[in-house]
Amino acid sequence: MKARRGLSLRGRLAVLYAALLVVSLVLVGAYSYWNIWQLFISSKSSHLRARAKPVIAHWLAATGLADAASRSLDRRPGDVLALARDLTSRDAVAVVLDRGGKVLADGRRLPEEPSPPAPDPQYLRRALAGENEVTYRSRVAGEPVLVLLIPLRPRPGSPEILGVVQLSAPLTDINRILFRHGATLIALLAVILILGTAAGFWLIGVSLKDLRRLLTACDQVSRGNLAQRVHPVGRRDEIGQLTEAFNRMTAQLEAAFASQQRFVANAAHELLTPLTGLRGSLEVLLRGAQDDPAAAGRLLRGMYGELSRLIRLCNQLLGLSRLEGAAHVSRRAIALPEFMEAFRVQCEALAADNPLVVETGPDVTVSADPDLLKQVLLNLLSNALRFSASGTPVTIGWKLLPQAVEIWVSDRGPGMDERTRAHAFEPFYRGKNTPATGEKGAGLGLALARSMVAAHGGRMRIESRPGSGTTVYFTLPLQ
Ligand SMILES: Nc1ncnc2c1ncn2[C@@H]1O[C@H](COP(=O)(O)OP(=O)(O)OP(=O)(O)O)[C@@H](O)[C@H]1O
Ligand SMILES: [Mg+2]
Repeated sequence: MKARRGLSLRGRLAVLYAALLVVSLVLVGAYSYWNIWQLFISSKSSHLRARAKPVIAHWLAATGLADAASRSLDRRPGDVLALARDLTSRDAVAVVLDRGGKVLADGRRLPEEPSPPAPDPQYLRRALAGENEVTYRSRVAGEPVLVLLIPLRPRPGSPEILGVVQLSAPLTDINRILFRHGATLIALLAVILILGTAAGFWLIGVSLKDLRRLLTACDQVSRGNLAQRVHPVGRRDEIGQLTEAFNRMTAQLEAAFASQQRFVANAAHELLTPLTGLRGSLEVLLRGAQDDPAAAGRLLRGMYGELSRLIRLCNQLLGLSRLEGAAHVSRRAIALPEFMEAFRVQCEALAADNPLVVETGPDVTVSADPDLLKQVLLNLLSNALRFSASGTPVTIGWKLLPQAVEIWVSDRGPGMDERTRAHAFEPFYRGKNTPATGEKGAGLGLALARSMVAAHGGRMRIESRPGSGTTVYFTLPLQ
């Protein structure tokens, strides 16, 4: 057996399995990473907002801006700076902007502290329009920062906007945590991938082991070892079914092969008997018997008989092989009552010692090859006549079945024992019962008849018991 190039089934399944594992792990990992990131950002921004709210409320109350005649922030640089400073803490820098977006105050106390990002006009416009929860991400000197914009109103819920407070907090710590989380995730995915692929490879290998045994067995069968069987795997899955089917197939193959060998051996043996007889007679003639005309005539008549037997045998064998290949059946509509009556008249000479009775059945028409039908009836009739004592009747009849017609040939001869009945259809099988006439056939008559009936799609069966006669039934399709 030549191994095919390329990946084995196991390899292909393992690659597919690993690819699926990678895709699903990456999807799960990315989703969890994104979720954690969202969680961090939203918790940080709500924390900053919650801290800023009371500071702003306190500042509004302290400055009395709500009731002041002029509410312009530009006129109160001191108050604005105080607010920016109050809102600036270790983790966030506050900047106060006026309605025009100009920076009024910056809450940093030391100039070396990281500077806040320049206000983004796009988000600033949304905050000035009254949106309370404007949050976005930006970068300062390459570092990521979270920016929150809080509109300043003279009192809570007022539509008037005095300016905007911008809070910015570096995201470096969150990034560091997420980086560590991502690295752990990747390491974990790699471990799962390696372990999963190894386990999958092993599992696939175990499942395919039985398939490989089948492959070896097929190889053995192709080398002619028909006795090859595969030990059942003990499961009802596809491989279990395949194993059973394989064993059934090889058993049938072996039986068919053995029957073919038996057939050839039997055929050769059957041909050899008349040929040996012929050679014996010829030797006697050559040794001088031809000088005695009476002896020579006897020998020649014997040889003629042997030759006739040979020709009959060859014809029977030919008929069998032809029927076992594609059956050449030329069907025609046959009206049974007329056909059977004609058959009885033709056979009257053959059945000189026994009355031939046709039990006329229903007036039906079958679809069959008339020559083959006659041959079947002749084979059955010749058996019945050979086994019937002189004077006992042989009956032919038929009856209607739901989809077919059943025809029978019945005699009151010695019948068959169980073994003969079971094997009577096998080519060359001859029973131990001796025919009334004493002559023995080749054992092909019933095999031929059954092949002919099968070529019409019909079935043949025997009902017989020792001492109570024999009836052979066969079916033919209706027209
Ligand atoms: N009507 C019958 N009564 C008793 N035994 C029968 C009858 N028909 C067949 N058998 C038995 O079945 C065997 C097989 O029959 P089959 O017709 O195939 O072969 P055959 O008659 O021996 O030989 P052939 O038909 O080739 O001349 C016979 O040898 C005989 O033992
Ligand atoms: Mg026969």
